[in-house]
Amino acid sequence: MTDIVRLAALSDIHYSKSSQGSLQPLFTQIAEAADVLLLGGDLTDYGLPEEARILAKDLAPVKIPVVAVLGNHDYEAGEEKELSRILTDVGVHILDGDTWEYHNVGFAGVRGFCGGFGRGALGPWGEKIIKDFVHEAVQEALKLESALARLKADHRIVLLHYAPIRATVEGEPPEIFPFLGSSRLEDPISRFDVTAVFHGHAHKGAPEGRTQTGIPVFNVAHAVLKANYPDQPPYRLFEVRNAPPNEQSVTPIGDRRYHGRRATDRDDSDTKIANPSPS
Ligand SMILES: [Fe+2]
Ligand SMILES: [Fe+2]
Repeated sequence: MTDIVRLAALSDIHYSKSSQGSLQPLFTQIAEAADVLLLGGDLTDYGLPEEARILAKDLAPVKIPVVAVLGNHDYEAGEEKELSRILTDVGVHILDGDTWEYHNVGFAGVRGFCGGFGRGALGPWGEKIIKDFVHEAVQEALKLESALARLKADHRIVLLHYAPIRATVEGEPPEIFPFLGSSRLEDPISRFDVTAVFHGHAHKGAPEGRTQTGIPVFNVAHAVLKANYPDQPPYRLFEVRNAPPNEQSVTPIGDRRYHGRRATDRDDSDTKIANPSPS
Protein backbone atom coordinates (compact mmCIF):
# COMPACT_ATOMS: atom_id res chain seq x y z
CA MET A 1 0.00 0.00 0.00
CA THR A 2 1.21 3.51 -0.79
CA ASP A 3 2.04 5.45 2.40
CA ILE A 4 1.27 8.85 0.91
CA VAL A 5 -1.39 9.63 -1.67
CA ARG A 6 -0.98 13.01 -3.34
CA LEU A 7 -4.21 14.70 -4.38
CA ALA A 8 -4.37 17.59 -6.82
CA ALA A 9 -7.63 19.55 -6.67
CA LEU A 10 -9.11 22.08 -9.06
CA SER A 11 -12.61 23.18 -10.00
CA ASP A 12 -14.57 25.42 -12.34
CA ILE A 13 -12.36 25.13 -15.38
CA HIS A 14 -15.37 26.04 -17.58
CA TYR A 15 -14.09 24.50 -20.80
CA SER A 16 -15.57 26.25 -23.84
CA LYS A 17 -15.44 25.69 -27.60
CA SER A 18 -12.22 27.73 -27.72
CA SER A 19 -10.44 26.02 -24.80
CA GLN A 20 -8.61 23.34 -26.78
CA GLY A 21 -5.15 22.90 -25.27
CA SER A 22 -5.55 25.74 -22.77
CA LEU A 23 -5.06 23.64 -19.62
CA GLN A 24 -3.17 20.73 -21.14
CA PRO A 25 0.22 21.99 -19.83
CA LEU A 26 -1.34 22.32 -16.37
CA PHE A 27 -2.81 18.82 -16.55
CA THR A 28 0.61 17.47 -17.56
CA GLN A 29 2.23 19.27 -14.63
CA ILE A 30 -0.41 17.88 -12.25
CA ALA A 31 0.09 14.34 -13.54
CA GLU A 32 3.77 14.60 -12.60
CA ALA A 33 3.09 16.02 -9.13
CA ALA A 34 0.04 14.05 -7.97
CA ASP A 35 -1.41 10.54 -7.82
CA VAL A 36 -5.05 11.59 -8.32
CA LEU A 37 -6.66 14.67 -9.89
CA LEU A 38 -9.96 15.91 -8.45
CA LEU A 39 -12.19 18.16 -10.59
CA GLY A 40 -15.02 19.85 -8.67
CA GLY A 41 -17.55 20.58 -11.40
CA ASP A 42 -18.30 23.28 -13.96
CA LEU A 43 -16.07 21.26 -16.22
CA THR A 44 -17.73 22.96 -19.20
CA ASP A 45 -19.09 26.46 -19.73
CA TYR A 46 -22.51 25.71 -21.24
CA GLY A 47 -22.80 21.98 -20.68
CA LEU A 48 -22.33 21.23 -24.38
CA PRO A 49 -21.06 17.84 -25.58
CA GLU A 50 -18.67 19.69 -27.91
CA GLU A 51 -17.08 21.40 -24.89
CA ALA A 52 -16.80 18.05 -23.08
CA ARG A 53 -15.13 16.49 -26.11
CA ILE A 54 -12.54 19.27 -26.11
CA LEU A 55 -11.88 18.71 -22.41
CA ALA A 56 -11.73 14.94 -22.92
CA LYS A 57 -9.09 15.45 -25.59
CA ASP A 58 -6.98 17.54 -23.20
CA LEU A 59 -7.43 15.02 -20.38
CA ALA A 60 -6.75 11.94 -22.48
CA PRO A 61 -2.93 12.11 -22.10
CA VAL A 62 -3.23 12.49 -18.29
CA LYS A 63 -2.12 9.13 -16.97
CA ILE A 64 -3.22 9.53 -13.35
CA PRO A 65 -6.80 8.79 -12.24
CA VAL A 66 -9.19 11.74 -12.62
CA VAL A 67 -12.21 11.93 -10.30
CA ALA A 68 -14.90 14.53 -10.99
CA VAL A 69 -18.39 15.75 -10.17
CA LEU A 70 -20.52 17.85 -12.51
CA GLY A 71 -21.46 21.44 -11.72
CA ASN A 72 -24.49 23.56 -12.53
CA HIS A 73 -22.92 24.75 -15.81
CA ASP A 74 -22.62 21.13 -16.90
CA TYR A 75 -26.43 20.86 -16.65
CA GLU A 76 -27.19 24.02 -18.65
CA ALA A 77 -27.86 22.28 -21.99
CA GLY A 78 -29.68 19.28 -20.49
CA GLU A 79 -26.90 17.06 -21.87
CA GLU A 80 -25.34 16.01 -18.57
CA LYS A 81 -25.64 12.30 -19.32
CA GLU A 82 -23.81 12.75 -22.61
CA LEU A 83 -21.14 14.85 -20.88
CA SER A 84 -20.61 12.09 -18.34
CA ARG A 85 -20.38 9.49 -21.11
CA ILE A 86 -17.80 11.51 -23.08
CA LEU A 87 -15.60 12.00 -20.01
CA THR A 88 -16.06 8.46 -18.73
CA ASP A 89 -14.87 7.22 -22.12
CA VAL A 90 -11.44 8.80 -21.47
CA GLY A 91 -11.29 7.29 -17.99
CA VAL A 92 -12.69 10.07 -15.81
CA HIS A 93 -14.54 8.74 -12.75
CA ILE A 94 -17.71 10.86 -12.61
CA LEU A 95 -19.23 10.67 -9.13
CA ASP A 96 -22.95 11.31 -8.66
CA GLY A 97 -23.62 9.63 -5.36
CA ASP A 98 -20.87 7.18 -6.30
CA THR A 99 -17.62 6.13 -4.65
CA TRP A 100 -14.12 5.38 -5.82
CA GLU A 101 -11.16 4.11 -3.81
CA TYR A 102 -7.41 4.40 -4.27
CA HIS A 103 -4.83 2.96 -1.84
CA ASN A 104 -6.98 3.23 1.29
CA VAL A 105 -8.34 6.66 0.31
CA GLY A 106 -12.05 6.65 -0.47
CA PHE A 107 -13.79 9.32 -2.53
CA ALA A 108 -17.49 10.17 -2.34
CA GLY A 109 -18.90 12.78 -4.71
CA VAL A 110 -22.13 14.59 -5.48
CA ARG A 111 -22.90 17.86 -7.19
CA GLY A 112 -24.71 19.17 -4.13
CA PHE A 113 -27.20 22.02 -4.34
CA CYS A 114 -28.00 25.41 -2.93
CA GLY A 115 -30.45 26.75 -0.33
CA GLY A 116 -28.20 28.57 2.11
CA PHE A 117 -26.42 28.01 5.35
CA GLY A 118 -27.18 27.56 9.03
CA ARG A 119 -30.15 29.45 10.39
CA GLY A 120 -30.60 31.11 6.98
CA ALA A 121 -31.14 27.81 5.17
CA LEU A 122 -34.37 27.57 3.21
CA GLY A 123 -36.87 25.17 4.79
CA PRO A 124 -39.42 22.89 3.06
CA TRP A 125 -42.50 24.90 3.91
CA GLY A 126 -45.28 26.55 1.93
CA GLU A 127 -45.51 26.34 -1.83
CA LYS A 128 -44.79 23.04 -3.55
CA ILE A 129 -42.05 24.64 -5.63
CA ILE A 130 -40.21 25.67 -2.45
CA LYS A 131 -40.54 22.14 -1.10
CA ASP A 132 -39.22 20.75 -4.41
CA PHE A 133 -36.27 23.13 -4.28
CA VAL A 134 -35.37 22.08 -0.73
CA HIS A 135 -35.99 18.45 -1.64
CA GLU A 136 -33.18 18.63 -4.21
CA ALA A 137 -30.69 19.74 -1.53
CA VAL A 138 -31.93 17.04 0.85
CA GLN A 139 -31.60 14.39 -1.87
CA GLU A 140 -28.04 15.44 -2.67
CA ALA A 141 -27.15 15.25 1.05
CA LEU A 142 -28.74 11.77 1.26
CA LYS A 143 -26.81 10.62 -1.81
CA LEU A 144 -23.61 11.84 -0.18
CA GLU A 145 -24.47 10.10 3.09
CA SER A 146 -25.20 6.84 1.29
CA ALA A 147 -21.91 7.04 -0.64
CA LEU A 148 -19.92 7.74 2.52
CA ALA A 149 -21.56 4.78 4.26
CA ARG A 150 -20.31 2.48 1.49
CA LEU A 151 -16.66 3.54 1.73
CA LYS A 152 -14.34 1.03 3.41
CA ALA A 153 -11.13 3.08 3.26
CA ASP A 154 -9.58 4.70 6.35
CA HIS A 155 -9.59 8.13 4.72
CA ARG A 156 -12.76 9.62 3.29
CA ILE A 157 -12.53 12.51 0.81
CA VAL A 158 -15.67 14.37 -0.30
CA LEU A 159 -15.87 16.07 -3.69
CA LEU A 160 -18.69 18.54 -4.34
CA HIS A 161 -19.53 21.40 -6.65
CA TYR A 162 -21.60 23.48 -4.21
CA ALA A 163 -20.20 24.62 -0.86
CA PRO A 164 -21.19 22.76 2.32
CA ILE A 165 -20.26 25.65 4.63
CA ARG A 166 -20.53 29.40 4.59
CA ALA A 167 -16.83 30.10 5.31
CA THR A 168 -15.62 29.18 1.82
CA VAL A 169 -18.14 31.40 0.02
CA GLU A 170 -17.10 34.44 2.07
CA GLY A 171 -15.92 37.10 -0.37
CA GLU A 172 -18.94 36.66 -2.63
CA PRO A 173 -21.77 39.21 -2.36
CA PRO A 174 -23.85 38.14 0.69
CA GLU A 175 -27.02 38.44 -1.42
CA ILE A 176 -26.04 35.31 -3.38
CA PHE A 177 -24.78 33.14 -0.50
CA PRO A 178 -28.00 31.04 -0.57
CA PHE A 179 -27.26 30.14 -4.21
CA LEU A 180 -23.70 29.02 -3.54
CA GLY A 181 -24.28 26.01 -1.33
CA SER A 182 -26.19 24.29 1.41
CA SER A 183 -25.27 23.38 4.96
CA ARG A 184 -27.45 20.28 4.53
CA LEU A 185 -24.32 18.84 2.87
CA GLU A 186 -22.35 19.42 6.08
CA ASP A 187 -24.33 16.89 8.14
CA PRO A 188 -23.10 13.69 6.43
CA ILE A 189 -19.57 15.12 6.21
CA SER A 190 -19.48 15.54 9.99
CA ARG A 191 -21.22 12.25 10.75
CA PHE A 192 -18.70 10.19 8.77
CA ASP A 193 -15.64 12.03 10.08
CA VAL A 194 -14.46 12.94 6.59
CA THR A 195 -10.75 13.70 6.12
CA ALA A 196 -11.20 16.67 3.77
CA VAL A 197 -13.77 18.27 1.46
CA PHE A 198 -13.15 19.93 -1.90
CA HIS A 199 -15.65 22.06 -3.80
CA GLY A 200 -15.91 24.95 -6.24
CA HIS A 201 -18.76 27.12 -7.61
CA ALA A 202 -18.03 30.22 -5.49
CA HIS A 203 -15.53 31.91 -7.82
CA LYS A 204 -15.01 34.81 -5.43
CA GLY A 205 -15.10 32.74 -2.25
CA ALA A 206 -12.37 31.96 0.25
CA PRO A 207 -9.96 29.06 -0.28
CA GLU A 208 -10.24 27.40 3.12
CA GLY A 209 -12.70 26.86 5.95
CA ARG A 210 -13.78 24.21 8.43
CA THR A 211 -17.01 22.49 9.29
CA GLN A 212 -18.43 22.93 12.78
CA THR A 213 -16.63 19.71 13.73
CA GLY A 214 -13.30 20.97 12.38
CA ILE A 215 -13.12 19.09 9.06
CA PRO A 216 -11.10 21.08 6.50
CA VAL A 217 -13.03 22.38 3.49
CA PHE A 218 -11.20 23.73 0.44
CA ASN A 219 -12.73 25.89 -2.28
CA VAL A 220 -10.56 25.02 -5.27
CA ALA A 221 -12.38 27.09 -7.90
CA HIS A 222 -9.88 28.10 -10.57
CA ALA A 223 -10.57 31.81 -10.01
CA VAL A 224 -10.15 31.47 -6.23
CA LEU A 225 -6.76 29.82 -6.63
CA LYS A 226 -5.57 32.38 -9.18
CA ALA A 227 -6.61 35.24 -6.91
CA ASN A 228 -5.28 33.84 -3.64
CA TYR A 229 -2.13 32.09 -4.82
CA PRO A 230 -1.01 34.25 -7.76
CA ASP A 231 2.53 32.86 -7.68
CA GLN A 232 1.42 29.23 -7.90
CA PRO A 233 -0.05 27.16 -10.71
CA PRO A 234 -3.86 27.12 -10.29
CA TYR A 235 -4.36 23.82 -8.51
CA ARG A 236 -3.84 22.69 -4.93
CA LEU A 237 -1.78 19.74 -3.89
CA PHE A 238 -2.41 17.69 -0.75
CA GLU A 239 -0.80 14.69 0.86
CA VAL A 240 -2.98 12.08 2.53
CA ARG A 241 -0.86 9.96 4.86
CA ASN A 242 -1.99 6.39 5.14
CA ALA A 243 -0.18 5.28 8.27
CA PRO A 244 -0.40 5.96 11.04
CA PRO A 245 -3.49 8.18 10.96
CA ASN A 246 -2.95 11.32 12.98
CA GLU A 247 -4.72 14.58 13.58
CA GLN A 248 -3.42 16.23 10.44
CA SER A 249 -3.78 13.44 7.91
CA VAL A 250 -4.28 15.84 5.01
CA THR A 251 -1.48 18.31 4.49
CA PRO A 252 -1.42 21.06 1.89
CA ILE A 253 1.91 21.07 0.07
CA GLY A 254 3.91 24.13 -0.87
CA ASP A 255 3.68 27.79 -0.14
CA ARG A 256 -0.03 28.24 -0.64
CA ARG A 257 -0.93 30.66 2.08
CA TYR A 258 -4.19 32.52 1.91
CA HIS A 259 -3.11 36.00 0.89
CA GLY A 260 -6.29 37.55 2.23
CA ARG A 261 -7.14 39.24 -1.03
CA ARG A 262 -10.80 40.15 -1.22
CA ALA A 263 -13.13 39.32 -4.06
CA THR A 264 -13.78 43.03 -4.56
CA ASP A 265 -10.11 43.47 -5.54
CA ARG A 266 -10.53 41.55 -8.72
CA ASP A 267 -12.80 41.17 -11.72
CA ASP A 268 -11.98 37.72 -13.08
CA SER A 269 -15.00 35.82 -11.84
CA ASP A 270 -18.04 34.91 -13.87
CA THR A 271 -20.33 35.30 -10.86
CA LYS A 272 -22.90 37.93 -11.62
CA ILE A 273 -25.36 39.29 -9.12
CA ALA A 274 -28.03 39.78 -11.78
CA ASN A 275 -28.07 36.03 -12.39
CA PRO A 276 -27.57 34.55 -8.98
CA SER A 277 -26.33 31.09 -9.86
CA PRO A 278 -23.88 31.34 -12.75
CA SER A 279 -20.77 30.29 -10.83
FE1 LIG B 1 -21.03 26.52 -10.55
FE1 LIG C 1 -18.19 27.93 -11.97
